[in-house]
Amino acid sequence: MAPDLDYNSIEAFHQKLANSRRILAVCGAGLSAASGLPTFRGAGGLWRNYRATDLATPEAFDRDPGLVWLFYGYRRHMALNAAPNPGHDALAALARTNSNFMCLSQNVDNLHLRANHPRYQLRLLHGSLFDIKCTNTNCTHLERNNTADPFFPAIAAASQDQSPSEPGIIPLLDPSHPLPPITRDDIPRCPACREGLQRPGVVWFGEQLDAAMMADVNNWISREPVDIVLVIGTSSIVYPAAGIAERARTKGTTSVVTVNLEAETPDLLDEMSPGDFYFAGDATELLPRLLEPVIGRI
Ligand code: APR
Repeated sequence: MAPDLDYNSIEAFHQKLANSRRILAVCGAGLSAASGLPTFRGAGGLWRNYRATDLATPEAFDRDPGLVWLFYGYRRHMALNAAPNPGHDALAALARTNSNFMCLSQNVDNLHLRANHPRYQLRLLHGSLFDIKCTNTNCTHLERNNTADPFFPAIAAASQDQSPSEPGIIPLLDPSHPLPPITRDDIPRCPACREGLQRPGVVWFGEQLDAAMMADVNNWISREPVDIVLVIGTSSIVYPAAGIAERARTKGTTSVVTVNLEAETPDLLDEMSPGDFYFAGDATELLPRLLEPVIGRI
């Protein structure tokens, strides 16, 4: 199929928005890119010489928990030092003005909540960098919102911004600087079961998303047709997030509205349906403009 001719017209989108009640957003790392947090794929996707996606697995943690904790310690440090951007602000403002708006985010950086996005209109599909869980699968320990930086002393290198001897260089990011040795004994044990190691409360590749949360998301989608799905700053290749817009379509007439830095390709246009929109550009700049008739000027 092909989209309407005005698929990238902000005015045409504003008309659609004026006639829409139920709105869903599916957000990815591109939303936080302007806050200075790297995305997973494309430029910035490497950490030292590792692909970020190779460190985000239970097997990687099992093999070298110190290395994986350094990676997450660094991401916690970066997220704590980043600020929400006008894209997060626009979504939070939409939530406050429309109780029929639900935001699903794959981002674990806590920036939605720091932008005062109402918690009950937000589902963090992949957990949070600031939640701490236990590796023991029989243990349900979960600590919320732990912002200690570093989380434990052995990963202090992850919280270092610049080398005192080489200003401008973050030693942890330079593969020629050796990593501090971290043994299993350096990693804090679970305070509840005292058996497992504490680990980041994020969903790793190969792990299931929280079943109760996904049931709740599916109920929200099934309850009534969804007028608009905003697909913001995501490469849409990781499921189930990548399948949510199409699932919403099966329940009624839904406009899928993509906001992505990458320009639309002929293939992408082919996959779009009448009523869909594609806005190529920075989500930070586009979201306030797209939502302005409802949220006012940010
Ligand atoms: N504005 C809008 N889009 C942007 C911007 C920006 N400023 N910067 C980058 N993008 C787009 C990129 O073009 C890309 O399509 O954001 C997307 C980021 O894609 P990914 O890095 O793959 O991030 P995401 O889709 O969130 O990844 C999904 O994969 O590794 C896992 O668990 C991790 O939650 C993550 C999941």
